[in-house]
Amino acid sequence: MNLNNKTFIITGGSSGIGKAIAQKLVGKGASVLITGRDESKLKAVGDELRCEYVKADIGTPEGVKLTITTAFNKLGKLDGLINNAGHGWMNKMHEYSWQDFEETYRVNVFGAAMMGQAAAKVFMEQKSGNIVNIASTAATKGFAGGSVYSSSKFALRGLTQCWQAELRPFNVRVLGVNPSEVTTAFAQADRKERSDTENKLRAEEIAHAIISALEMDDRGYIPELSVHATNPF
Ligand SMILES: NC(=O)c1ccc[n+]([C@@H]2O[C@H](COP(=O)([O-])OP(=O)(O)OC[C@H]3O[C@@H](n4cnc5c(N)ncnc54)[C@H](OP(=O)(O)O)[C@@H]3O)[C@@H](O)[C@H]2O)c1
Repeated sequence: MNLNNKTFIITGGSSGIGKAIAQKLVGKGASVLITGRDESKLKAVGDELRCEYVKADIGTPEGVKLTITTAFNKLGKLDGLINNAGHGWMNKMHEYSWQDFEETYRVNVFGAAMMGQAAAKVFMEQKSGNIVNIASTAATKGFAGGSVYSSSKFALRGLTQCWQAELRPFNVRVLGVNPSEVTTAFAQADRKERSDTENKLRAEEIAHAIISALEMDDRGYIPELSVHATNPF
């Protein structure tokens, strides 16, 4: 698809991977609405990238509704949804709590599922659209301490495959993306971006992969892609 004049929602676009995707989409001439829970971060990124924003927690039904309504008010139409907002919780099996699962699944699974449903209703009607689900390499292999996070991303990967089966007849493309470790603020106690390390992945690499997949002619789609650092050791 030609991204010029297309419209996208990116959940969690105020930092990291979501921000890098927003930057590249705007650079291609697309209009973008980003979401997040911190209004000052959203405003700063909205001003920097010249994109729309809405303060909304996508891990709540109200946040999902507000995001979709605002997207139509500000963008007028919808060509793509990037389900990017995510919650990272690493805890060993003997330590995790019911609440850890609820908090993580609320964003990584329930919020993504309901954002996907809202977008799919629009896309099925217009017989075109794109959904990108940002899962993780943790969605392909579990690890010690990953019970909560990894299982939530396995769930998102499962949703991706179900949506592909349901939406292909409507010309809707659904792409699952599995980044390996990226030096963002993700899962950092201080919520600060990590300094760039030459051999580790940056958010830019993930954004590059997604933009390339979206730009392919609509007759083709890439079901899933994983992005690894070439030599992170
Ligand atoms: N970094 C990695 O190593 C890595 C690897 C694999 C997959 N991923 C996945 O990539 C995605 C993006 O992560 P990132 O690395 O870019 O992290 P990040 O820099 O921490 O960005 C996360 C974004 O999501 C927003 N967000 C979080 N919870 C939200 C909620 N409930 N509602 C709306 N917005 C919310 C954050 O803003 P607020 O906090 O202000 O709400 C922020 O804009 C996540 O799904 C993550 O699981 C990351």
